[in-house]
Amino acid sequence: MQSTPLFLRCTKWKGFTFSALLLLGSSGSLHAYDAAIAPEASSGLTNTSVFQAQTFAVAAANPLATEAGYQILRAGGSAVDAAIAVQAMLTLVEPQSSGIGGGAFLLLSSDQGMQAFDGRETAPAAATGDLFLNDDGEPLAFMEAAASGRSVGVPGLLKMLELAHQQHGVLDWSDLFAPAVQLAEEGFPVSARLHTLLEGETHLREDPLAAAFYYDNGEALPEGYILKNPALAAILRQIAEQGSQVFYQGDIADDMVNRVQQHPAGSGGLTLEDLLAYQPAVREPICTPWKVYDVCGFPPPSSGHLTIMQVLGMLEYLPVDTPVHNGEQSVDWLHRFIEVARLSFADRALYIADPDFVEAPGGDWNTLLNPRYLASRAAIVGDQSMGNGGAQAGNPQEFFTAYAPQSDQPEYGTSHISIVDGMGNALAMTTTIEAAFGARILADGGTGLAGGYLLNNELTDFSFRPGDAEGRLIANRVEPGKRPRSSMSPTLVFDTETGEWVASLGSPGGAAIIHYTARSLIALLDWQLAPSEVVGLPHTVTLGGPVWLETDRFAPETLSALEALGHDVSERDLTSGIQLLINIPEGITGAADPRREGRVMGD
Ligand code: GLY
Repeated sequence: MQSTPLFLRCTKWKGFTFSALLLLGSSGSLHAYDAAIAPEASSGLTNTSVFQAQTFAVAAANPLATEAGYQILRAGGSAVDAAIAVQAMLTLVEPQSSGIGGGAFLLLSSDQGMQAFDGRETAPAAATGDLFLNDDGEPLAFMEAAASGRSVGVPGLLKMLELAHQQHGVLDWSDLFAPAVQLAEEGFPVSARLHTLLEGETHLREDPLAAAFYYDNGEALPEGYILKNPALAAILRQIAEQGSQVFYQGDIADDMVNRVQQHPAGSGGLTLEDLLAYQPAVREPICTPWKVYDVCGFPPPSSGHLTIMQVLGMLEYLPVDTPVHNGEQSVDWLHRFIEVARLSFADRALYIADPDFVEAPGGDWNTLLNPRYLASRAAIVGDQSMGNGGAQAGNPQEFFTAYAPQSDQPEYGTSHISIVDGMGNALAMTTTIEAAFGARILADGGTGLAGGYLLNNELTDFSFRPGDAEGRLIANRVEPGKRPRSSMSPTLVFDTETGEWVASLGSPGGAAIIHYTARSLIALLDWQLAPSEVVGLPHTVTLGGPVWLETDRFAPETLSALEALGHDVSERDLTSGIQLLINIPEGITGAADPRREGRVMGD
C-alpha cells in the first residue's frame, strides 16, 4: 500500500515553524515461539525518504522529530544536542514507541573515542524473581504483566541524556527542549501511524488519563487532529529549566510512583528512592572486525551487537554465489541466514544479561565472537533446517555455565535515531518504552493538565520465569537494580584501514531488531545496495522456531522452497523502522524505512 508521504502533509500543515529555534539559529505466554515479533502494528508503506547532505544529517522515525534535530544541527548543535531535541519531540509525536518515561542506548563516536551511554531502565529495589509469576508460580500472560504497574522500570533516559550532554553538548540543555515544548503547546497533527495504533489498542483505553486524552468517546483521535499536550509541555519546561533531577524527585516523581504503586491492574514496586538512586552507565562499546570494517555496537545488557555479529561472523563461513537477485534474497542465502539466526539466538538465550549481574562466558563477551568458535558453530548448518527448537547454545572456550536458557517471549516497541553533526561526531541511539504505549500508563507529572508522557513496561524484557524445571537460574531473571536484557542495536561502522566513519544505523522491532540490523549491514556493506534498497528489502525472522517472512514480499516459490528445507514458514507484518546514514564522497546520504514514518534531513 502506498500513501502520500506523511512529511508532505506535515510540512504543509498550518505553516508551522520552530520559532523558538530560529532564535537559537541567530544564536504472553512463555511457550517457546509464541512471541509476537512485530508488536507495533503495521500502518502500511510510505515512500522511502531518500536524501543527500554535505555536512550534517539526522534520521528519525517522525518528520517533526527529524525537523527538531535538523534545526538544532543547523544552529550549531552537536549530535548529542540534536538527539536530545529529537527525543523530546518523539515523546510528543511518537508516544507509542519511546519517551522520557523509558530508556535508551546512545552510541557515540567523538574526539573522545567511542562511548556507549546506557540509559536502560533498572528493576526497583523491591523487585524479586517472581515478579511476573502468578499465585500458582506460573508466568502471567504478557499483557497482564505489561499493562500494569509491575512492569515499570526506573526510567533512565533523561539522566543518560544529561550525562551525554555534560560531555558532548554545545548548545544549552534548556534550548534543546524548545521545539517539543512549543509543539506540545500549539498542537501537532496526529500521524497516520499514531492513529492506527491508537485504534487497535485496548489496554490504553483502560487508563483514565489516556482514555480522555487520546480518544474521543472511545474513538481514536483521527489522523490530522491537532493534539495539544499541556501536561507534557509543562514537564518538559521544568526539565529544560531545572535539569533531569526535577523528573526524579518532587511532583513529577511523586506522581509517577503513585500511578505505579496504585495501579488497579497490578501494583508495581517503584519508589522515590529507586528514582533518586538511578545511575546511567558509560560502557565500552564492542567493535568487531568484519570484512574491511569495524562494526561497533552496544555491549550487554544489549544482546543486539553480539547476536548480530554472530550472524554476520557465521555467514562468512557459509558463502553463497547469488545471495540476492532482482531485490529478492535467494533461498540458499535465506536458509543460511535463518540457520545462523537459530544458533545465535540459542547463545543469546543462555548467556546474555546485565553484565553487572552476570559474568560473560570465559570472562569476556568477545568469546562469543571468536572466529574459531563461530566457524565451529557455522559447521552445524546443514542442507536441511535444524528445525523448530533444534539449535542449542554452544560452549565458547569450554566455559561452564550453570544457567538455563530463557524461553522466547515478546519484546516490543522502540524507535531509532541516527545523527552525524558538522563536528565529526556520529551517533546512533535506540530508544524505547518497550511495548507500543509501554505500560499503558499516562502520567501528567502531577500538573493536573491534559496529556503527559507514557511509562515504560521495560521489566517485561526480563525472563518471566526465574529458573527452569530443574532449578537452574536464568541469567536474565528479575533482580533488584538489574537492567533487563535488550535487543536494541545502535550501530556505527568504520573503515578498518582509515578509521573513517562509514554508517550509522539501527531499528525498532523487539528481538527482530537483530535480524533487521544484521540484514541491513549485509545489504549495505556486502551487497553494496543503495540506502533506499537496504531499508526496503523484505525481512526474514526466526528466534529459533517458526520462520516469518514479511507478508507479500516473497514469491510463493520461495516459501515452498524453504518449507522443503524443513523450515516452518509463515508470513506476517515485520514492521522495522530502520534509520540509515552513510558516508559518501559527496557528503552524507541515507534513508528512512518505508514501513514507518521516518524522514532524513541535513545540509
Ligand atoms: N524493549 C526493546 C528492547 O530493549 O529490545
